[in-house]
Amino acid sequence: MNEAIERAGCRYTGERKLCGALLRRLGVSGFLLLALMFGGCRKPVQEPVTITFLDPEWSHDLEVRRPLSAEALQEFTRETGVLVKHIPGPETAPDQLALTEGLLKKGAVTPDVYGIDVIWPGILSNYLIDLKPYLSSGFAEQDPVVLAGYTVGDRLVAIPYHPNIGIFYYRTDLLEKYGYSLPPRTWDEMEKMAAKIQAGERARGDKDFWGFVWPGADSEGLTCLGVEWQADEDGGHIIESDGKISVNNANATRTWERAARWVGSISPPSVTSYQEWDASNAFWITGRAAFFRGWMSDFFLTHPLAVPYRDKAGATSVPGGRVARVATLGGFGLGISKTSAHREEAVKLVKFLTDREARLNTERAQYEPPARPEAFELPTLLKAYARVYKPGENQGGGVVVRPSNIAGAKYDEVSEAYARAVHAVLTGKAKAPQAAADLEKELVRITGFATSRQH
Ligand code: GLC
Repeated sequence: MNEAIERAGCRYTGERKLCGALLRRLGVSGFLLLALMFGGCRKPVQEPVTITFLDPEWSHDLEVRRPLSAEALQEFTRETGVLVKHIPGPETAPDQLALTEGLLKKGAVTPDVYGIDVIWPGILSNYLIDLKPYLSSGFAEQDPVVLAGYTVGDRLVAIPYHPNIGIFYYRTDLLEKYGYSLPPRTWDEMEKMAAKIQAGERARGDKDFWGFVWPGADSEGLTCLGVEWQADEDGGHIIESDGKISVNNANATRTWERAARWVGSISPPSVTSYQEWDASNAFWITGRAAFFRGWMSDFFLTHPLAVPYRDKAGATSVPGGRVARVATLGGFGLGISKTSAHREEAVKLVKFLTDREARLNTERAQYEPPARPEAFELPTLLKAYARVYKPGENQGGGVVVRPSNIAGAKYDEVSEAYARAVHAVLTGKAKAPQAAADLEKELVRITGFATSRQH
């Protein structure tokens, strides 16, 4: 009997008693049935724990753009004995949020660790653990603006991992060819340079060449751009940090109208359907644009993509306007699901990844910039190559944030409404002042906040 119980896979006292009782009732002919039933009752105490990490930064472009290497995760496994299943996310920010929110809301046991976009904490805070008690050190080095993005009330729902910042890429060969020694610092300069380069390249026979590509689809990427354009011209931040809806103002709508003029003149008509990757491909892969508004983190600054136009590209701060030169803060932090069955191991992974990043950032700050890609007046948020600036020199652009902290759980609705309004102006379906007035009403309905014109 004992041997049969053993062979049925029951090793522990409780299981053995139950096995014995069942075997006696069913007879030896029931052995097979028991083996099937109890095959799964071996406690996997010897098995290593596996945790799952849903990593939206690692999206559809699985080869060239992979900020977290398999080797780093293997090192974690060697140090801790914990295995990691590293899974990519969907392509666009709204799809990434839908997947993440869906899993967390239904209380999924896995993933354990999630990459959290800086705009999601208010939406997901109920489903993520407070990381403060687990991560006592390391806060001092964090940029306060980045840290604030991941803080809801007094809870730290994700720890900054890869802050990303809007960046302006330019073709160094074309700047030289058309007699420009520097990339544009303002949108006005950008427009003139883009038009001249585009006309020249077309005259040379490249009929499908464009001055400027950017993610103009009705999506989160457009909200990022709109926030930059508006802040540059004193057009506010959609909703201000005091909870006032400010979007319905002439400075803001003028920037939407200016961008609408780019469509079909210096930017392809189809730019209004470009997701982030479409704009990126037009610049890096097919090389049919002189300028591109994309993203950069310290990681990608020091690990340029292996793409066709890499050696002909430079990076600088996004151009500015009358009152400011800023780029939108983006990027991902790391959060842990409240319903993870392996919280302890998940905390270990988050610590491992953020410690590793801190170490790499210290190293990156010492890097000498490579000759190419040229790095010129990079945003101040980027720490790699910080040494290129001498005192008094222009340090590059600052940071602007989307109104995700103030909008909290409603941020996705706010951003969707905003992107839809700006997109309607870009595609000529609405006039900017009317679109802003309608949007204002919609934002009042969504958030319950007052407008900045009400007292
Ligand atoms: C980038 C940013 C992210 C932003 C997204 C919008 O991935 O890191 O913060 O939400 O672009 O498309």
